[in-house]
Amino acid sequence: MKNSISAGGLTKWFNERVSFEGMVEHVKHKTVPEGKHFIWYFFGGSALFFFIVQVVTGLFLLLYYKPTPASAYESVHFIESEVAFGWLIRNVHAWSSNLMILSLFFHMFSNWFTKGFRKPRELTWITGVFLLIMAMGFGFTGYLLPWNKLSFFATKVGTEIAASTPFIGDFLVRFLRGGEEVTGATLTRLFAIHVTVLPLLAAMFVGIHLYFVQAQGMSHALGEKLGKEMKFFPDFVYREIAVWSACLLLLAFLAVYFPFDSVFISLELQEKASAFDPTPMGIKPEWYFMFMFQSLKYFPGSILGMDGRVAAVMFFSFGALVLIALPFWDVWAHREKRHWFPMVVGVGILIFIIVLTTLGYLDTGH
Ligand code: HEM
Repeated sequence: MKNSISAGGLTKWFNERVSFEGMVEHVKHKTVPEGKHFIWYFFGGSALFFFIVQVVTGLFLLLYYKPTPASAYESVHFIESEVAFGWLIRNVHAWSSNLMILSLFFHMFSNWFTKGFRKPRELTWITGVFLLIMAMGFGFTGYLLPWNKLSFFATKVGTEIAASTPFIGDFLVRFLRGGEEVTGATLTRLFAIHVTVLPLLAAMFVGIHLYFVQAQGMSHALGEKLGKEMKFFPDFVYREIAVWSACLLLLAFLAVYFPFDSVFISLELQEKASAFDPTPMGIKPEWYFMFMFQSLKYFPGSILGMDGRVAAVMFFSFGALVLIALPFWDVWAHREKRHWFPMVVGVGILIFIIVLTTLGYLDTGH
């Protein structure tokens, strides 16, 4: 029949409008270096997988979650106990957020050490750093939503730290809390940031990041001889599908056998939040904030006449700047040379994060 729809006809129809062929040609010619650093090319993909899982499970949670102090805790309980597979969706969301941030740490440090940021990939690196900050922002804003004791007091402590930001500290705390204290207004704000502002920004940045990766192709690790290349399609894509399947299995295993709250939160801290309770013992942030939280305890009360907490906030802001600007100060990498300095800074940051995180978990004090 003349008017019947065939696969070829449909492709032609789209081609005339969006030039599929250009994209297909691009993918056909794309390759991935098959050197000894090959494994690190999968961590951006696993981060992408967990990001997609976050969006999908988050949308399901939105169907039942209620962001008010009177009903947030109860709605989460309802999702866990009444909604079909609600417990699974909630646990997958919690585990996937952690695995996404873990993937991002691997992805970032592997790119630091293989120098994946060198010319022309500076902007890929910078958009990546913003994505990491946003991922941590998702974690911080999502923590309050269950409205239990842990989430309430961790947000109180976390927002208090923002008060030490030079010049804008007081404004920042009031902006985040919607007032002087953590209240329903804080819940409304953090909820709005968690489900609209951050997803919109993150989707935009993921899009830009991936566009850069496609436009520039995969880099060779610095110092690696140009050798065998693997075809992106189908060879690399098959392997990526295997990695995504492994991620899915891991998520399902963790969500089913290790319910997030029972593994990480004591029964007392799982109770509903009340502003009148004294701050309970053992309030800890999520593991990826632990190194900052713990290091605050070691800063003296005042340094050279400056408040210790203000100095700490400045120290970490400087750290973020060092990270963002890496492609510009590692001038050796652009000349295809390895220098000990960026290596020592990278390893130093990694050791700092690991040691302080461990100390944070060993610390049983207040
Ligand atoms: C949601 C967050 C992110 C997603 C979904 C993502 C995804 C990806 C993907 C799929 C690739 C290509 C494969 C690979 O190299 O692994 C890539 C490359 C890259 N990413 Fe990310 N990424 C994210 C965050 C980051 C972060 C935090 C950084 C560093 C601070 C970063 C820096 C880079 C760089 C420099 C490349 C180019 C690597 C090369 O060409 O060898 N990305 N990203």
